[in-house]
Formats: sequence, C-alpha cells, structure tokens
Amino acid sequence: MSDPRTTALSYAHQNSQAFLDSLKGLVRIPSVSTSLDHAKAIKETAEILATRLRDLGFSKVAIYPTGGHPVVFGEFITNHPNKKTVLIYGHYDVQPAEPLDLWKTPPFEPTQIGDQLYGRGASDMKGQVAASLAAVESVLQTGEPPVNIKFMIEGEEEIGSPNLAAFLRANAQLLSADVVLNPDSGILAADFPTLTYALRGLAYFELRVFGPEHDLHSGLFGGVVHNPAQALIELIAGMHDADGRVTLPGFYDSVREMTPAERADIAKLPMTEKYYLEQTGVPKLWGETGYTPAERIGSRPTLEVNGILSGFTGQGSKTVIPSWAMAKISMRLVPDQDPDQVHRQLIQYLEQNAPATIRWEVIKMAGGPASFTNPNHPAAVAMSQALETVWGKKPVFKREGGSIPIVAEMQEILGAESVLTGFGLPEDNVHAPNEKLHLPTWYRGIDALIHFFFNYGE
Ligand code: BES
Ligand code: MN
Repeated sequence: MSDPRTTALSYAHQNSQAFLDSLKGLVRIPSVSTSLDHAKAIKETAEILATRLRDLGFSKVAIYPTGGHPVVFGEFITNHPNKKTVLIYGHYDVQPAEPLDLWKTPPFEPTQIGDQLYGRGASDMKGQVAASLAAVESVLQTGEPPVNIKFMIEGEEEIGSPNLAAFLRANAQLLSADVVLNPDSGILAADFPTLTYALRGLAYFELRVFGPEHDLHSGLFGGVVHNPAQALIELIAGMHDADGRVTLPGFYDSVREMTPAERADIAKLPMTEKYYLEQTGVPKLWGETGYTPAERIGSRPTLEVNGILSGFTGQGSKTVIPSWAMAKISMRLVPDQDPDQVHRQLIQYLEQNAPATIRWEVIKMAGGPASFTNPNHPAAVAMSQALETVWGKKPVFKREGGSIPIVAEMQEILGAESVLTGFGLPEDNVHAPNEKLHLPTWYRGIDALIHFFFNYGE
C-alpha cells in the first residue's frame, strides 16, 4: 500500500475534472459584494460552500451572519488532539464585472479556452478556494488528515472586510489555529512559485469638493467662481512632489525602511523595469525616486486616484461649471503606517491646501493596515518545501503590493501567522474584464497544498 500522501495526490489526479466542475459551479454565481443587488447570489454561494464542507464531513458547519455578508465556517478535527490546526482563509465574494462590453465571454459563464478558465472570480479567488477544497477533499477521502482543518470563507474581502475583525473577536476560540493558510496572494509567474511575506495595507477615501449651489452657465459665471473640478484636480496634483513622493504631512514618518539585505533580495526578483513595461503597456514607468519598481510595489507606500467624477461627460458639448466634483483616492500602506493616522494626514493636507473658494468633505471607506509575516514560520517552511516539490525549484519570497486587510487583524486578534501563497498569475486580469485562471498552474497548486498539509503535519 502506498503512503497517505501519494494516495491523496493520486486521488487529486483522478478527480481533476470534478474539481474543475465544482470551480465552474462557483464562478457561475455572481457573488459581487459591492452592492446589495447581489444578496441572493451571495447567499447561494455561501450555501454551496457550507454544503460542500458538510459533504466532506466537516462539523460545526454554519453560515454566520455578520453586519454585512455572512462568513462560512466549518472544521474537521481529527481524533488526535495533538495534531496541529490549519485555518484556511478564503473569500467567496468577487469584484463587479463591469464594464461588461469589454468581456469576450460572459463573466458569470465559466468558459474554458485552451489552458485558461475565463470568468469573474476564476482567479480572485474562487479558484483558490476551490483549490483548497480540492486539496482538503483529496486528503480527507483517502485517510486520516495529517492536520486539523478549519475553513473560514468570508463574503466581504473585496470591499475591505469591514465586519470580519468583529467576527474574529466574537469567535476567537472557534477560529483558534496554529497557522492560517491564505491562498489569496498570487504567483509571480507560472514557473515562479511564490510565498508572500508582506502585504500592503489600504486607506480608502472619497474626496468631495463643492462649489456653486447648482451647475452654472460657464459664460455667465466663468471667471468669478472657482470651478470645483479644477479645485479638485489642483488638490490632487499637490499630493505628489516632483520626485513622486506623497506630500501628505508626516506620510513617511512611520514607514519601516528596508534593510540592505532585503533590498539585495528584492533586487534578485525577476520584476524588472522591462517586466512592468510588458505587463502594463505604458510608454515609460513612473514612481518614487530612489527605489526600484519591485521596491516601490512591495515596500513603499503610494497614493492613487481611483476615479474622478464631475460635470458634463456625455456626448457633444455643454458649457457648464459643475457644482461639485469628487474623487476616490486611496493609499497603499506599508508597515508601520496606521490607516487612521493617514486619514488625519489627508485631513491636515486639505486644511492646509484647500482654497477658500470651495467647501470639501472626506468620506472614509474600509481599509486596513499592512502586514508582515515570518518567512521562517514552520508552516512557511512547509509551504516552501511543498512548492519546491511540485515545481522542482525553490519558491520566490516576496512582498506583495495588494492588500488582504484581515491578515494583520488575524495576527492581532487570533495571534496567528498567515502563510500566504496563491496560484493566480499577474496576467489573470483580476478586478478587470476577462479575468481568467491558468489551469495547469491551478492543478499544480492543488498538489502543492496537499504536500503542504503533510509537510506541516508530519
Ligand atoms: N487577492 C487580492 C489581493 C492580492 C492581489 C494579493 C494580488 C496578492 C496579489 C484581494 O482580493 C484584493 O484585491 N484585495 C483588495 C483589498 C481592498 C479592497 C481592501 C485590494 O488589494 O485592492
Ligand atoms: Mn482576492
């Protein structure tokens, strides 16, 4: 008889089509978390996941209500009380699919073209949730699992997990674990298995600028009122200096600098200028002077305008001075910046720089702090070895520019470190039209997760 690991791996290989079908079932449901229009789809997705956990023999399976979309939880505790416990984190919500006309296949009809599976959430992160479930199924159906397993799958990650910290606090005992497995971080390239040891945080705002009480004829009033659209972009323009640095007062004060050793490690990553030029199609890169692109993505904070709205943008022309303007502005944060402090810095910047000709207002949206996890944690070592076994090469350890706000909160509230990996590629069009998943990488991911459970449990 072959050993449990080999049996689990061959189970996975025999069931590869069923795993793909069950991923397609998840992608088919439009569980978009941003608006309440999709409440039914959210509920349905949570129910499918709960049923799946029950079918796998999990106990305490429940759909926990929160202040927003619910959390799916379940646990499989083995008869050996001394086994370690892995809490698998996932999110079943997805980003909106709009703009729909740019999709080549319908976003919620999973479509396989060659090696790719197209559909919203295929990569971020229904694919990763499905890979975790597939790996767990392979282990459970073929024997006694080497670790206890808990699943916590939330429905609000894409809107900043506004209710999850409260859920962690209220259920800390239920969620207790030796480590969190978080497969929501990507892979650098199909042939560069990746372990992420840091994520950026996020502070997100809406800045509204108000001018005249209502829109004005730009001939009758142009020249006597400060156009709010102009005032807004003047304020935005002032938020960076000529070196690409953010000018909010004190913005860099608590930024943890990279050590020379870390800079040397980052310099070895294949994320060169050329890489970013190819990934983005821009004519030339931009950013903070004194740092390489890879450093600027992972280790430096930024400020971005996510959207601007004002005045007349329809067909033809209309001579008008808009009465208001607004922009969505967000900062990616690094250790040890505090999102609340960044909020105060933005207010202070506006108090110092907003002209007397307009009124302004800032609305704070959800976000969270950056996180830094121990790359030498036994579970990180177990994952590193798992990736190496499957890919035949050592994984890349890197900082990630994206955010998963709950990682820092899990450290603080549960005292649990997260092992961050994932099998979604940078070219998967996450959050964009034509999101897709590279299936060969996904299947390798399932194998790697199986190895991880055995490596960590043994
Ligand atoms: N999975 C991503 C984060 C991510 C992307 C990690 C790429 C590693 C590599 C996640 O679903 C996401 O998009 N998060 C949001 C969080 C925000 C809404 C608070 C993000 O980073 O914008
Ligand atoms: Mn995600």
